[in-house]
Amino acid sequence: MRHILVTNAKGGCGKSTIATNLAAYYASEGYTTTLADYDQQATTLNWLDERPEECASIVGLAAFDDGLRYLPRNTDYLIIDAPAGSKGPELTALVKHAETIIVPIMPSPIDIKAGTAFVNELLNKGKIVNKKARVAVIANRVKENTIIFQELEDYLEKLKIPYIAKLREAQNYIRAYQRGLGIHELPYYQAWQDWEQWDELIEWLDSRRSQPR
Ligand SMILES: Nc1ncnc2c1ncn2[C@@H]1O[C@H](COP(=O)(O)OP(=O)(O)OP(=O)(O)O)[C@@H](O)[C@H]1O
Ligand SMILES: [Mg+2]
Repeated sequence: MRHILVTNAKGGCGKSTIATNLAAYYASEGYTTTLADYDQQATTLNWLDERPEECASIVGLAAFDDGLRYLPRNTDYLIIDAPAGSKGPELTALVKHAETIIVPIMPSPIDIKAGTAFVNELLNKGKIVNKKARVAVIANRVKENTIIFQELEDYLEKLKIPYIAKLREAQNYIRAYQRGLGIHELPYYQAWQDWEQWDELIEWLDSRRSQPR
């Protein structure tokens, strides 16, 4: 089973958006997919409620109160959506079982500052220090050709962890969320630019580089 955690203590950086899109992608590729929502806001489970019956099914778990006790045994991909504000022991517990950790960061001074503190904390967790889990960052809600995006890229490229993808700011994410879909389930003509950006993320996730040795 692949275990992918999407986390950043900073609120609103796109954790739930990326978690739902990852779940929809792997489910539509035919993998048995479980989406565990650790956030009391239940954003990802609300998304799942809207998911059309004809779409590839995804198991949703409200994980914050019962851990992963109900995780289906045949799960191929477990995607975990972490809540904002995860730090200290809560973050240690979230990271404990993760093998791949994705940290979305948005191009804004506030998000870069908060992201720096979060990445520093994450990189000091024993699990990451001992290379038992791989971490990568992605830039989310990007508007190319803006100074702040350039500043975010300069910052991400200097980090000691891979910067694997950038996702543009697009209404497609909002439309897909409303309908319980992932952007890969939108028509090609509508979402091809997003698919291209996701290729880099999926390629990294499919590679050994995203998995502990
Ligand atoms: N690439 C994107 N393009 C456009 N809108 C986006 C994008 N990513 C996220 N959003 C929007 O930004 C808002 C915050 O995203 P999301 O809920 O995924 O963040 P979050 O990190 O899970 O927030 P929280 O910390 O509250 O759990 C949502 O309205 C979402 O639709
Ligand atoms: Mg969320």
